[in-house]
Amino acid sequence: MTGTSQLSRAQIEQQLAAEIGVVALLENSAARLQHVQGWLHRGEGFALMRLVAASNAGVVGGGAVVEVGSFKGLSTCWLAMGVEMLVKSGVASGQAGPVYAVDHFAGSPEHQPGGTHPDPDVARDGTTLNAFEANLARAGLAAFVQPMVQPSLAGAAAWDKGPIRLCFIDGDHSYEASRQDWNAWAKHVPHGGYLCLHDVGSWPGVTQLAEELAKDLSCGFVRVMGVATLQVFRRA
Ligand SMILES: C[S@@+](CC[C@H](N)C(=O)[O-])C[C@H]1O[C@@H](n2cnc3c(N)ncnc32)[C@H](O)[C@@H]1O
Repeated sequence: MTGTSQLSRAQIEQQLAAEIGVVALLENSAARLQHVQGWLHRGEGFALMRLVAASNAGVVGGGAVVEVGSFKGLSTCWLAMGVEMLVKSGVASGQAGPVYAVDHFAGSPEHQPGGTHPDPDVARDGTTLNAFEANLARAGLAAFVQPMVQPSLAGAAAWDKGPIRLCFIDGDHSYEASRQDWNAWAKHVPHGGYLCLHDVGSWPGVTQLAEELAKDLSCGFVRVMGVATLQVFRRA
């Protein structure tokens, strides 16, 4: 095998064991969330979970975790599993999390009756908050999440929880709304912190925003990684 011929059998086995460990973590984590409806790819969820856990120390040095657009809690659960990893490793729960889940829970335009992705909870109750809470409880993750039931821009304007180490934006996907979300939340993300966009490449508005940010050297962020439709930017 190219690149491994210099390695001993023990080193190769160690490498394989590490790779298998990552796949097992991904599969076991995804299995916990089979009951949660949503559009997040498991690779995207895994990246969010690992970023939450990895960004607690080092350059970022802690800070809050924020999600804009929670729907029924799929991405919220992945972010919360990152907090849970930290707590299990001995980080005090107040320093590890919680995940602040910002959503008015009334659904995006596409979730309304007649939209491209009409949702039965939105049509019946006008909210997905009940499903969100039930899904988090069933996954055993409710203790790691604090819902903030309000519009994104109001949440950003009133934000008083300090610097944000990771903000995941998955709200209204129009260009205008996603640009407003970015501008409103980016000001709370310090040097080394992450801002993540979902649905890049699948929704035109978010795709345009991500392309503009990647080209704009004065935006203060650099694109550092991505998987499927998740793009991760770090404050330079
Ligand atoms: C695509 S869904 C989020 C999906 C979720 N991240 C998941 O993993 O399943 C978009 C969510 O953004 C919320 N939303 C849309 N516009 C919003 C706004 N201006 N303020 C707060 N929430 C908003 C909707 O209520 C909806 O729940």
